[in-house]
Amino acid sequence: MKHITTAHQFTRPVVERLIADADAIRKSPLKTLTGSTIATLFYEPSTRTRLSFEAAAFKLGANVISTENAAMFSSAIKGETLEDTIRVVSTYCDAIVLRHPDKGAAKRATDVSAVPIINAGDGTGEHPTQALLDVYTVQRELGRVDDLHFCLVGDLRNGRTIHSLIYLLGLYKGIKITLVSLDELSLPREVVRFMTENGIPWHQTDSLPKAIQQQKPDVIYMTRLQKERMAYPLPSVYTLFHLTTDLMKGMKEESIVMHPLPRNDELVTNVDSDPRAAYFRQAENGLWMRAAVLRELLA
Ligand code: NCD
Repeated sequence: MKHITTAHQFTRPVVERLIADADAIRKSPLKTLTGSTIATLFYEPSTRTRLSFEAAAFKLGANVISTENAAMFSSAIKGETLEDTIRVVSTYCDAIVLRHPDKGAAKRATDVSAVPIINAGDGTGEHPTQALLDVYTVQRELGRVDDLHFCLVGDLRNGRTIHSLIYLLGLYKGIKITLVSLDELSLPREVVRFMTENGIPWHQTDSLPKAIQQQKPDVIYMTRLQKERMAYPLPSVYTLFHLTTDLMKGMKEESIVMHPLPRNDELVTNVDSDPRAAYFRQAENGLWMRAAVLRELLA
């Protein structure tokens, strides 16, 4: 594997190897990347993705160079193209973790980079390492990924974590998907086509209570409204997509709630104390999965 730009590129054996590696590194994080330098180049805000990649690099003994606000503080403000920046930064490091507002930016970066590019979110496109840590979380929490019913909730159009997750779920057997969204926020056509072509049964509803009561999903994956990607606000949406402790009563005992974070009002904080609330464990899993990803590309 040279770059990581899309969740499409993974096979099931590779995902399983990464999960095993993430577990092994969690148990004993050996400094197998001593002497390597990782660059984190973020043109969009981030907390978990950037810091977990950087922490993962340090745990493996690598060094980190970083711009946490490349849109403001890099030469982008002076009109430099992404291609020129990548061309130069790739001579300073052994891998570049890139977040950018344009869909397809990571792929463009691979055309000019001398080192591996890791897509850490490209606009409304994809977020493949998030999908890896999501699948890792499901595996740890529920003991398997096959034969599970996923309920994906919220802004499915603009939420890139959802797109990559669906692509990765295409590697597993017996997956069912319930989409909880509005027509204005529903999945991009290419992701719907992927589910259909891969024989994943799915349907869409605009009622979270109905989805929980009727479908009894194993995984509820909440997402926030990607307000920064919208031309105008959609005020009515919140009343449809609130997960509350009351709604959680209709969930199976053996089920989990996930969220890539950051959350807004779609996930009330008193859900946090429910043992099925897996999102903080999910965020921690990101550290170990990203360490496994760095090792896969660089060791
Ligand atoms: C997500 C992202 O950046 O796409 N955040 C993350 O990486 N955990 C989700 C989001 O911003 O809503």
